[in-house]
Amino acid sequence: MLDTASNRPDLPAEIARRRTFAIISHPDAGKTTLTEKFLLYGGAIQMAGQVRAKGEARRTRSDFMQMEKDRGISVSASAMSFDFGTFRFNLVDTPGHSDFSEDTYRTLTAVDAAVMVIDGAKGVESQTQKLFEVCRLRDLPILTFCNKMDRESRDTFDIIDEIQENLAIDVTPASWPIGVGRGFIGCYDMLHDRLELMDRADRNKVAQSIEINGLDDPKLDEHVPANLVAQLREEVAMARELLPALDRQSVLEGHMTPIWFGSAINSFGVKELMTGIAEFGPEPQVQKATPREIAPEETRVTGFVFKVQANMDPRHRDRVAFVRLASGHFKRGMKLTHVRSKKPMTVTAPVLFLASDRELAEEAWAGDIIGIPNHGQLRIGDTLTEGEDLRVTGIPSFAPELLQQARAGDPMKAKHLEKALMQFAEEGAAKVFKPAFGSGFIVGVVGALQFEVLASRIEQEYGLPVRFENSQFTSARWVNGPKAAVDKFTEANKQHIARDNDGDVVYLTRMQWDIDRVERDYPDVTLTSTKEMM
Ligand code: G4P
Repeated sequence: MLDTASNRPDLPAEIARRRTFAIISHPDAGKTTLTEKFLLYGGAIQMAGQVRAKGEARRTRSDFMQMEKDRGISVSASAMSFDFGTFRFNLVDTPGHSDFSEDTYRTLTAVDAAVMVIDGAKGVESQTQKLFEVCRLRDLPILTFCNKMDRESRDTFDIIDEIQENLAIDVTPASWPIGVGRGFIGCYDMLHDRLELMDRADRNKVAQSIEINGLDDPKLDEHVPANLVAQLREEVAMARELLPALDRQSVLEGHMTPIWFGSAINSFGVKELMTGIAEFGPEPQVQKATPREIAPEETRVTGFVFKVQANMDPRHRDRVAFVRLASGHFKRGMKLTHVRSKKPMTVTAPVLFLASDRELAEEAWAGDIIGIPNHGQLRIGDTLTEGEDLRVTGIPSFAPELLQQARAGDPMKAKHLEKALMQFAEEGAAKVFKPAFGSGFIVGVVGALQFEVLASRIEQEYGLPVRFENSQFTSARWVNGPKAAVDKFTEANKQHIARDNDGDVVYLTRMQWDIDRVERDYPDVTLTSTKEMM
């Protein structure tokens, strides 16, 4: 019997059936294909194949979607909700580009679990490793899908060993592949003792499932070719002896990952993975906040903004804030308090990202993601409550690793450039620093590609040509400490001081040596490379 009891027994059934997760992977491992198959099984059959198709392939249902179409991008894909059996899945997309960005980190603050997709021939690749480390910072439970088993892939024990060693996590096989490459015929379901056989002829057909009564069951010989059955029995017996058995608590704490083998393109193994997410993926979890934590079963609604998508309509400059509900039962038209400004806001047009379409959300529960269109009031890290002064914590801002000076192609348009940069800073796409001395702005990003993306967006969305040039600085640190100490420090180091887009003091430098010196000479001042967004 599998231990799938809720770890939060007081949750209302509507919340307990929710699973909010993201997929992490190295480019090309099969994230898009797997997402399509999730949607296929999630009942949104018409969507399969459209994740790639972006805006124009979708049906338009509202003006809002028209804007999306005009811009040729799809924000719906940022969060998708669909049902699987009695469960409601919320899949939050991690940004696709290969540069690691804060966006990715913040996306992972909005989920309760991650599905790690690896390519069976390539194993753990660099981007997977980086994303995994981010999940580990939050002890996120991770379920693993080893994809492309229909191609030549590595030995199953080798793959498992590599994950255990590279990622320092226990791996337990939830399924065991039978045959490899062209000879791959399906998997043995180690959790439910079933044979799952792939239908190669029809990619979207659900695999054949056969109950098996232990490894000695003659049904195995009936269904598995003679050249594979002995190996299967031997490997499964060995795996049971050598590898740890599934321990749900350990999975929930992020110490153990169950692994499923399959082939997303052949729809194989996907249903088993989804069943695994339902059975072992956690329900909405407690959210860290100050001055107290937020439990999902609380009746009052709370939520926080983890992503802002700006300029969905270039004419109106409106934005959509993606809000993860942390507690309660949200209803359309509700009046919530925007904690940072202490102002009430009535949420009249929240959007739910249903896989089949994008709809006005009449209601939503803790664990769901809703989109709130707004004119810039909502920023990343903001908390919404029914009045209580609570602030969700753990949504950091990272010091950028690359700094460049932004220059308007047309000097007359410097003011416009400032506006554009501020907008992107709010969206979290870059850091913008205004030096205390001199003119212009220093823009900071985490990955080099982001400068190109920024330049092209500024040009497209604001009609402003912009150049990014080398800056005299290479590092930025936030300055913290008692006011008197910070004032004394900034006064003596004016050449290095700037303010970020929130008005917080930042120290800019070229040399690590400078940072060490500040720490030595100003013991009351601390320089940090992260800042909580509040
Ligand atoms: P990504 O989002 O992680 O970058 O990966 P994506 O799903 O786009 O898949 C990358 C490539 O791998 C695609 O091929 C896709 O068809 C293929 N693929 C995905 N799952 C499987 C699988 O189970 N088996 C095999 N053999 N291939 C798989 P492509 O040629 O780059 O694109 P396309 O022309 O097929 O769309």
